[in-house]
Amino acid sequence: MTDRFRFVHITDTHVMAGGAWRIRGTDVDFDTDASLRRVVDTVRRLDPAPAFAVLGGDLASPDLLHRERTLAPSEYASSYMRLTEILGGLPCRAHYLMGNHDNLEAFNLALRPEVLKDVPCYYGFDHGGMHFVALDSHEPGHADGVLDAAQLAWLERDLSAHRPAPTVVFVHHHPWPLGHAWMDTMQLRNGSELMTLLGRHSQVKWLIGGHVHSEQMIQRGGLTFLTTPSTCIQLAKVPGATHFEPGPPGFRVVDVEDGRLSTFVVYAR
Ligand SMILES: [Fe+2]
Ligand SMILES: [Fe+2]
Repeated sequence: MTDRFRFVHITDTHVMAGGAWRIRGTDVDFDTDASLRRVVDTVRRLDPAPAFAVLGGDLASPDLLHRERTLAPSEYASSYMRLTEILGGLPCRAHYLMGNHDNLEAFNLALRPEVLKDVPCYYGFDHGGMHFVALDSHEPGHADGVLDAAQLAWLERDLSAHRPAPTVVFVHHHPWPLGHAWMDTMQLRNGSELMTLLGRHSQVKWLIGGHVHSEQMIQRGGLTFLTTPSTCIQLAKVPGATHFEPGPPGFRVVDVEDGRLSTFVVYAR
């Protein structure tokens, strides 16, 4: 038996202090701070309120303002500071994932000051009789992602140790192609290894990702894979989309009861 509670998945916030996201192929500048503030305001009005939030990666991305070079960790600091200031409005605690645009050293300094600067961001936590796992698929300098051998070995041990508890796993990158020609060039490279591992642990029934800036629900065997729209710009809703469109800012609400999940996406208009 598990408690009855709610959590929210908020992802791809792409906060970039000192600039806006120039949407590729357009002259549209999108204010990612303002759209995240709208999401936080909407989360504050949820009834019942969430017990916690999971932030699904691509949290800060000042790199999008400087595509011509690799930024130093210190150049991310003001964006993470802006992010924590905006997320301070959430009515609950937050758990954080790394995305391909994040910088581990700056991320840890701002969001996980209790760890050393180069410690990868994967961990488990428990709530209401359920187990939750956050994975770190970030690889510096890459838009696609990977889970290294040490992390997969840790995941095997963690899931074995929590075997009776219904479990939700979070990861930034999608583990198999979703039929988005563009996004599928940037998926989790060893997604099949992850799925084989998760398949050995039947208590894992949900995998929740971000990265694709769109909303999906896919059933594979005993596992449901959910993707959550971004809080800022979304993958264009046309077949074979290779571009983003501005907004609307979205996030996912998940209600848990008796170890089962029901979920819906909210767009903050
Ligand atoms: Fe993203
Ligand atoms: Fe991403």
